[in-house]
Amino acid sequence: MVLFKILPDWFIPENEATPESVFMNRRRFVQKLGLASIGAVTLISGCTSGTERKEAVQQNLKQANLQPISATRNPRFSLDRPLTEEYVAATYNNFYEFSGGKEVWRYVDGWQTSPWTVEISGLVAKPQKIAIEDLIRKMPIEERLYRHRCVETWAMAVPWIGFPMKALIDLVEPKPQAKFVKMTTFFRPKEVPRQDLQSYPWPYTEGLTMAEAMNELTLLVVGIYGHELPKQHGAPIRLVVPWKYGFKSIKSIDRIEFTDTQPATFWNTLVSNEYDFQANVNPNVPHPRWSQSTEHMLGTGERRRTLIYNGYEQYVASLYKNASG
Ligand code: MTE
Repeated sequence: MVLFKILPDWFIPENEATPESVFMNRRRFVQKLGLASIGAVTLISGCTSGTERKEAVQQNLKQANLQPISATRNPRFSLDRPLTEEYVAATYNNFYEFSGGKEVWRYVDGWQTSPWTVEISGLVAKPQKIAIEDLIRKMPIEERLYRHRCVETWAMAVPWIGFPMKALIDLVEPKPQAKFVKMTTFFRPKEVPRQDLQSYPWPYTEGLTMAEAMNELTLLVVGIYGHELPKQHGAPIRLVVPWKYGFKSIKSIDRIEFTDTQPATFWNTLVSNEYDFQANVNPNVPHPRWSQSTEHMLGTGERRRTLIYNGYEQYVASLYKNASG
C-alpha cells in the first residue's frame, strides 16, 4: 500500500522492487504453481481487453474450486452503493506475503491452505487449537454486506460470510485481565518467499481492544460471494472490521491471543506515524501524504465522500467517546 517518503534507508519502494516472479526465485515459483496455474498465468498475462481479463479471472476462480457456503443474509447491514463485482474484488488485493502490487491472485495458487488450524491462547479459560472446519461448525455463520475502505483511498462493497468475533470470545472465555486480542497470519517463509524479506516485520499481526473485538460489527470471515474465501482474500479465515482502514482486517489468521498489553502490529511497526493502532476511517484526518476526504469505488471508479467510521458511526462511536478516535 505504501509509497513511503518517510522511510528507513533500507526500504525499497514496491514499484522499484524486482517483479514478483523473478524475485520469488523462478524455480520455486514454478514448482509451486503446478501446470494448471502456469496455464492460467500465461493466459491472463496475454490478455488485453477488459472482457478477456474478466473471463480469465472468472476461470481462475472456477479452477480454485471454492465450495459454496450457505448463509442467511443478516438484514441489519444494508449498503448505500452497489456491490462490487466479484472479479473486481478478487483481482485488486493487498496481501504483502505474496505481492507488493494488487495482482495477488496470480501468486497464490500453489500455497496450501488446508489443513488449517487456529490456535487460541493467552488470557482465556479455554485455550484451544482447533481445525478450521470444526471452528466453522461451532459458529453462527451469516452473510453481511459491508463497505470496505483501504487507507490508500480505494473502496469496495462486498458480501462477506462469517461469524461475529463475539461468538469465538464466548467459546474461549477470556479472563478479566484480557484487554486486547492479538491476531497473527501464518508464517511459512520456505513456502512463501516474501516472508524471507527482512525489511518487513513478519508475520503480519494485528490487534483490537476487547471492546472492539466484541462489537457486533467485528466479523471473522470464512467466505465471500456465496463460497469459501479465495486465497487472495485471506483464506481460510480473516478478520473484517469495516469501520477501520483495511489494513486492520488481517488475513489468513492462524493464531489468536488474548493479552493484557497492546500488541505490536505490522504496519504500525513499519511506519508508526502513518498507520496507527486504532486506524478508524476518518475523512477529517488526512494520511500524512494524502487526503482521506474522498474514496473511489473499485470497478466503477465512482468517487464518493468518505464517511466517518466508514458509515458505521451508530455501531461504534460510543467506543471512542472519551478518545480522539
Ligand atoms: N493481511 C495480511 N496478512 N497481509 C496483508 O498484506 N493487507 C491488509 C489487509 N489484511 C494485508 C492483510 C490491507 S492493507 C487491506 S486493504 C486488506 O487486507 C485488503 O483486503 P482485500 O484484499 O480482501 O480487499
